Amino acid sequence: MNNIDKRVEEILAKMSLHEKIGQLNQPQTPLPEQTEKLKEMVRRGEIGSILMAVGATAGNDPQGDISVDFYNELQRIAVEESPSGIPLIFGRDVIHGHRTVLPIPLGMAASFNFDMIEKCYRDIAEEAMNDSIHWTFTPMLDLARDPRWGRIIEGAGEDPLVGASMAKAVVRGVQGDDLTARDSMLACAKHYVGYGAAEGGRDYHRAEISDYTLYNYYLPAFHAAVKAGAKTVMSSFNEISGEAVTSSRKYLTDILRGYLGFDGFVVSDYGCVEQLIPQGLADNRGDASRMALEAGLDMDMWDGCYHESLEKEVESGRLDIAVVDEAVRRVLRVKMMKGLFEHPYCDQHEIDRTEHLARARALARESVVLLKNEGNLLPLRKDTKIALIGPYVNERRSLLGSWTVDGKAEETPTLREEMAKVAGPNGGQILASSASGLSYEIAWMPYALIGCDVAVLAIGESWVVTGENKAVSNISIPEEQIALLKRAKMSGKKVVAVLFCGRPIALEGIAEYCDAILYAWHTGSEAAGAVTDLLYGDAVPSGKLPVTMPRLATHIPLYYNVTSSGRPVNCYYNQNAGNCYFDSIPTPYYPFGYGLSYTTFAYGDVRTEKDAIALDALKAGARFSFTFSLRNTGEYDAKETVQLYIHDPVAKMMRPLRELKAFEKVFVPKGEAVDVTLSVGYDELGYFLPDGSYTVERGKIEIYIGENCLTSQKAEICIL
Ligand code: BGC
Repeated sequence: MNNIDKRVEEILAKMSLHEKIGQLNQPQTPLPEQTEKLKEMVRRGEIGSILMAVGATAGNDPQGDISVDFYNELQRIAVEESPSGIPLIFGRDVIHGHRTVLPIPLGMAASFNFDMIEKCYRDIAEEAMNDSIHWTFTPMLDLARDPRWGRIIEGAGEDPLVGASMAKAVVRGVQGDDLTARDSMLACAKHYVGYGAAEGGRDYHRAEISDYTLYNYYLPAFHAAVKAGAKTVMSSFNEISGEAVTSSRKYLTDILRGYLGFDGFVVSDYGCVEQLIPQGLADNRGDASRMALEAGLDMDMWDGCYHESLEKEVESGRLDIAVVDEAVRRVLRVKMMKGLFEHPYCDQHEIDRTEHLARARALARESVVLLKNEGNLLPLRKDTKIALIGPYVNERRSLLGSWTVDGKAEETPTLREEMAKVAGPNGGQILASSASGLSYEIAWMPYALIGCDVAVLAIGESWVVTGENKAVSNISIPEEQIALLKRAKMSGKKVVAVLFCGRPIALEGIAEYCDAILYAWHTGSEAAGAVTDLLYGDAVPSGKLPVTMPRLATHIPLYYNVTSSGRPVNCYYNQNAGNCYFDSIPTPYYPFGYGLSYTTFAYGDVRTEKDAIALDALKAGARFSFTFSLRNTGEYDAKETVQLYIHDPVAKMMRPLRELKAFEKVFVPKGEAVDVTLSVGYDELGYFLPDGSYTVERGKIEIYIGENCLTSQKAEICIL
């Protein structure tokens, strides 16, 4: 028994049942009139953690400033006045930033720069810990194939490797090397599991996921989070094929603990335990509590079910006290690992955020994706006369995105302010209009454009239509903004669209009116600065899509790692695509992995050291490596994310036509070439069978290397 376990057993032995159940109870920050009641509960040992949030969907409800004194006072009561003196753990949704806001996670994933993401999360952890927050409910690891789902913004898109890379980066960034440090928070991998598969993108709705799909697509990111040391996991709201995750021993214990090896504690999502009643699985709160705890759900967020019923469940003999003890052990262990017993209080200090903001800007620049650049319209010369038009010209709040709980709109520069800083001293001009698309604005636009060299349209979707419980059926931008775009194009001027969006949007009927498109997501505190850097060429775009951009919403689901139909028809890869739908072109507008630069890259032929390796040797660590030269053939120093996909043409189960298995973001100075090597081994060349066992099969594997998932540069290897 290690030291922590020993201490946990000593404490546990002295705790009453009432107190034990208290450790599993997580109420929300109370309204001012209920503060005294909460303090009394803390005093009696009835609370283990506080959810520092107001409202049911903290990502979209306004949250007040944090009072460190208030939380220190609650902690003092817990430590000094509660029966066992166990410190509280304070948790908050620090999803993609604290005071400094990073791009929405889907945008961050587009950077493919996971080292940078890790560093940015270290900054965020420092800021949040300095505001009493020990525990953040991030990373959100829900693979999503449906952009109608508002929460697609919070994840890393449609690919398991990108999801796993994000999981590792965020967990390491948040938790650091030393969990007890004053700049380290506990991470929480959520929402376990399958929440992103909600039917029709309708939030909270049912998911239908086979075990084959679960192991190959939905679990890898959680596995990566566990391997990176995530100490907590949040269970998800949804059912999977008739089973609610909240009361599922299969998902919460057998797979999470048994298969993935998780050894921390599980917290429910908001009100999940009580939700078992309307889900038709429990008759009352007592049954719901017992079922969830027995399934492996340790801490009950918000609904107070455990607090109200678990004591009775044990006393009546319906629930074994050993199950309660095990959950309490897990919670206490994590509190000790975090060092809360030694350092329960927040000792606030001044933080200089200059570097945090600089890193947030660098990440925002790398997150933006250049989708189109006809005639190399971008970058713009700094003396360009620009008509800057659209509802996002003077916008601050939407640039931060949903799930911005502590970032401040008033501290967020607008695009107009940032562009004026560059244009002013360089003889350029910004004629700005925050037109929203009203008919008189549209009619007057040609006048506004006279004397300008180019129109830059700052358009997109508001943060309010993204995030939790914000599904939309039409993934587009408002009609009025499309009208603005058309009018601008009809004026004969060149049109640059800067699209601030929280999700992939259907680009047919939009992209055709743009000469250039910068897909800027909601890129955080430094969004405007980053976009300005890119527009004027002070930075070169390098973002790549972590998710497919469909032409029309009616083509959803459309994702790249799809299996072959077996018929000579395939929408994504354009085999007889005309037969997919009679009435529209079903290929993606822009495929997974796609993104342009101001420069161009030439990929050299791929050289393989060995094209055949025995299965045993692979198992023992041998790898196939692929080397090629990457030449920057344009005028700008730039970064390119090189991608390696595999396809197993004959296997026991149907395998996807392409699967991303390796990537690297490489910097190449203009005119130069670098040799790049990507490799795959045992862990990349197999897949999971429906029972969860991993298999690598003998035979041929096709390898595709290039700039996005449609690359045709092919090699072939053989596993002997
Ligand atoms: C969301 C979680 C969040 C929790 C606490 C829930 O509604 O689904 O992602 O962490 O609220 O705010």
